[in-house]
Amino acid sequence: MGFTMGLNLLLLLAMVATNILSLYHLSAPTLQSPKPPAPLQVPDHLLHQLQAIRATINHLTRHQPSPSTTSQSKPTIPSDLLLYSQLSPIASSCHNHPDLLHKYMSYTPYSLCPLDSDLAESLILRGCHPLPRRRCFSKTPSKPPSSLPRNPFPSSFIDSNVIWAQYSCKSFSCLAKQSPNTGFDMSAEISRFMTYKTELDLPIPQLLQVAKSASSLIRLGIDIGGGTGTFAARMKQYNVTVITTTMNFNAPNNEVAAIRGLVPLHVPLQQRLPVFDGVVDLVRCGHAINRWIPLKMMEFLFYDVDRVLRGGGYFWLDHFFSKKVDLDKIYGPLIGKLGYKKVKWAVGNKTDSSGLKNGEVYLTALLQKPVSR
Ligand SMILES: *[C@@H]1O[C@H](CO)[C@@H](O)[C@H](O)[C@H]1NC(C)=O
Ligand SMILES: *[C@@H]1O[C@H](CO)[C@@H](O)[C@H](O)[C@H]1NC(C)=O
Repeated sequence: MGFTMGLNLLLLLAMVATNILSLYHLSAPTLQSPKPPAPLQVPDHLLHQLQAIRATINHLTRHQPSPSTTSQSKPTIPSDLLLYSQLSPIASSCHNHPDLLHKYMSYTPYSLCPLDSDLAESLILRGCHPLPRRRCFSKTPSKPPSSLPRNPFPSSFIDSNVIWAQYSCKSFSCLAKQSPNTGFDMSAEISRFMTYKTELDLPIPQLLQVAKSASSLIRLGIDIGGGTGTFAARMKQYNVTVITTTMNFNAPNNEVAAIRGLVPLHVPLQQRLPVFDGVVDLVRCGHAINRWIPLKMMEFLFYDVDRVLRGGGYFWLDHFFSKKVDLDKIYGPLIGKLGYKKVKWAVGNKTDSSGLKNGEVYLTALLQKPVSR
């Protein structure tokens, strides 16, 4: 009894700390600008505190007495979760969301899995990745694609190639109407990465020309947060292989990339890129990488990008957005620490309503990693 109460208190404490931390992130940089520009990040002591709390919780959850000795109110742990945890470690962040994890691992082995890709994605976005494996069959769409994707910009997609249960839209026409410019309207996608309207654009022919004139070959790339894979689709036509990391966010991004014949990696931003050191020539970050990403996480992300890039490879920040003052004081210096050559560095006002309200700017930068370290 006392044990459970103690655990609950700890969980409460952890929740409060986590919320303080996220509030801190949302308000951090500019609130402090009148003061000297010293601690613009989450203070280390707060991070340490949070880590200590998490470690304690993990310790406690791992050493809980067996169900027979605790109070009857304790939720039963799904048997397949128990079994799996004996085979393979479960990410520490999974332990912070026992409710979601238990729900995810409550299923009938050897039968159809529950239709819960949204639950899986919720866990992944909370850092519970990789997810535990399950012994069930995931449902397949009524019709698999029946032809080779010769054209990655088809005039339409076939609704029955996708399971729509988890999405608010139930068809491609709904998606294209409800959320334009999110990668489902191929008549818009076809001109992306090929036109130069402002200084913030870097058309692919120009990118390849830059690389060629530096005698730097681009064969293989990663597009981080690449939606339905349009960058990969375009690069494929230049015989460059690009893999796309993409989450679903209430739309079938992964499925559509696959239908287009492109490799979708269902990997969140906080995950180490699943390739070896120095094996890719190009990493592109679209505007999924922006000021809403906690600064520390962004820093780890950038250094992981550096890890996977070969010497002389390119890091392309495409329409990264932040407040102008933060670009000068925080993100600019952070990018500078990588020690890359600035091949392109263009900053422009973000002129949509939230951009105007928050004084945001876009940065498009093409950076080249030093040839050797
Ligand atoms: C891509 O490769 C194919 C087959 O080798 C070749 O015919 C085509 O010209 C190449 N395209 C480009 C843009 O290099
Ligand atoms: C960008 O916005 C700033 C502040 O809102 C303004 O002073 C500046 O003139 C704008 N620049 C351009 C090119 O519109």
